[in-house]
Amino acid sequence: MSELIRRRRSVRTFDGTPLREEDADRIMEFASKVENPFDIPIEWKLLDREKDQLSSPVITGADSFIAGKMQRIPRAEEAFGYTFEKIVLFAESLGIGTTWIAGTMDRKAFEHAMGVSDNEVMPCVSPLGYPAVKMSLRETLMRKGVKADSRFDFEKLFFDGTFEKPLSEQNAGDYKLPLEMVRLGPSATNSQPWRIVLCEDQIHLYEKHSRGYGSNAWDVQKIDMGIAMCHFELGAVECGLHPVFHVEDPCIPGAEGLTYIASFLME
Ligand SMILES: Cc1cc2nc3c(=O)[nH]c(=O)nc-3n(C[C@H](O)[C@H](O)[C@H](O)COP(=O)(O)O)c2cc1C
Repeated sequence: MSELIRRRRSVRTFDGTPLREEDADRIMEFASKVENPFDIPIEWKLLDREKDQLSSPVITGADSFIAGKMQRIPRAEEAFGYTFEKIVLFAESLGIGTTWIAGTMDRKAFEHAMGVSDNEVMPCVSPLGYPAVKMSLRETLMRKGVKADSRFDFEKLFFDGTFEKPLSEQNAGDYKLPLEMVRLGPSATNSQPWRIVLCEDQIHLYEKHSRGYGSNAWDVQKIDMGIAMCHFELGAVECGLHPVFHVEDPCIPGAEGLTYIASFLME
């Protein structure tokens, strides 16, 4: 899993080959089985650009998209982020490119194709296809614009017991790989809102809101938090740890301006 997480990048330029039926079937079968820690059901659909009259100004050369919808309830975003990232990594394992898209799409057309009702939400979609050898100029510029190839330093994101004490990679011990997996995750406009405090055998995840987000009916950065949960868990399991998910605010001082999301206890 860590190899897939390191290898994945957003793919916006595809080679035009239609998604092979066996690949589509495998992805949709996988998607239907992924569970999330909040037990929130998500309905996944494979959509067709032409038939469903879809468009995204940033994607070229892909005709298939995957989208998911769910009830508009608390924790829907984190559940979606966690689940969709597992699907994204599965697609990566098949050599299929993806890009999380929350904004740059004809949202009305996608929601219509998904049959989204008033009490439902369809946070993101992704193209599914085979990456082109060369990125389009627009993709190259987009990546530069959000510094897509870089991430914040370990010490800026992770803390040792208290928010006053940054955690260095060298001092992270068994948690080095799982935390590195969180650090490498994709996030909306690469804002990396995840902050984590390591307290003995537990980690606590917090969301650091960026300005200008969260005015929607749903919070796109909570989707990023779901991705962080997914990456931490996959990394921890790979290291032989047994992370158990739970939600109980540890009330760590210094968390002003941050929102507590969830914790993992290593058993
Ligand atoms: C929740 C979420 C929403 C995103 N929305 C968009 C989008 O609307 N359009 C787009 O081109 N990329 C979008 N991205 C992709 C990010 O810009 C990208 O993940 C980030 O820049 C890091 O680059 P990488 O995925 O290549 O590692 C989104 C990513 C996430 C996680």
